[in-house]
Amino acid sequence: MNLLSPDSFEKVLLPNAEAHCLPAWCYSDEEFFELERKAVFGRAWVGVGRQELLEKPGDYRTLEVAGTPIIIVRGEDNELRAFSNACRHRGMRLLEGEGSCNAISCPFHGWKYKLNGDLLGVPHMEQAVGFDRKTFGLTPVRLGVSDGFIFVCLDPDQVSLSDWLGDFSERHAPYGFENLRCTRQTTYEVACNWKPFVEVFMEYYHLKWVHAGTFDSIDYRPPVPHEVTTGNYTTVFGFHNEGSAAVIDADAANALPPIPGLPADLQRATRCTMVFPGFIMAATKDCMWYFECHPVSAGKSRFVLGTCFPEETIAQPGFEEIQKAYQKRWHLGAMEDVEVLERQQLGLASPLATSGPLSHLEYAVGDLAKFIARQVTSQA
Ligand code: FES
Repeated sequence: MNLLSPDSFEKVLLPNAEAHCLPAWCYSDEEFFELERKAVFGRAWVGVGRQELLEKPGDYRTLEVAGTPIIIVRGEDNELRAFSNACRHRGMRLLEGEGSCNAISCPFHGWKYKLNGDLLGVPHMEQAVGFDRKTFGLTPVRLGVSDGFIFVCLDPDQVSLSDWLGDFSERHAPYGFENLRCTRQTTYEVACNWKPFVEVFMEYYHLKWVHAGTFDSIDYRPPVPHEVTTGNYTTVFGFHNEGSAAVIDADAANALPPIPGLPADLQRATRCTMVFPGFIMAATKDCMWYFECHPVSAGKSRFVLGTCFPEETIAQPGFEEIQKAYQKRWHLGAMEDVEVLERQQLGLASPLATSGPLSHLEYAVGDLAKFIARQVTSQA
């Protein structure tokens, strides 16, 4: 196989009704994984969660994007910024995990950076000839916020976040994403490539088989034709019967109120969206949930689930107790999917695995495949 040959993706790039999935080796080959990391995640605006989770000046989190360690921190001026998580002296990883700090101090030789990245203090450097503290601030990484979501981009030449997202904000405006608050985060370590996880989130085809008895009775009816977007994202909108898609049928009677201002027709519908490459979210009558996508290797991934509700809903008496039914459904849905995806991975890793055609219920899978094919072949 030639990883960069357009011939490898000929069937992927056909219109969705004729297209095939990505070749199976795109899900299991470590060389392709490295290429994807560089050509896809290294160039995209990558969604990394919610701005309200870093609420106060000094709040930070660390993560890796395309294998690059990054710090996201809120400055004293309330601005969110991203930096390389490597000391400008001898490369020490500066922060781990998440927390809050007044300044970023290197544990190796004590260099200290302000929250805006400026180098503040440098012990025992007075004899270093030509050393100018002002030129050794933390290396910045592009960061943008849209609809309450944080995005980072390692590529200085990439278009702006606004251009990357196109009509994303307009299409999701009825849900008022910027007014929602994340109430909980849950991390899932999954023994599969990152793509099957985000693909299954975006297709209705599997519901009847994988979620039989849990939420297969929702009776999704996604519209045909598939919606066209102007941004680097794909979306699936479907009407369903009354009630929230975020609780199982048994808990429907105890559901939370609708998102304030959400039109009546959208109160019996769900919109699932994937901002390429792998930031996925679903919005329904009363809430929104999303998964951050963190590829680990060709056969391993990490996903962070964030669950978001309107402030008014969170403030209502008994919210914590009622929220448990939602968390139960999200966990159940994830575990039912993961069981299948880890088995799919075993099949995809077979040298005899082939890629098949797509149902009209999984056109978003075709959209992701086309995005990846175009990104990796543009490197050729
Ligand atoms: Fe950070 Fe030396 S590596 S102060």
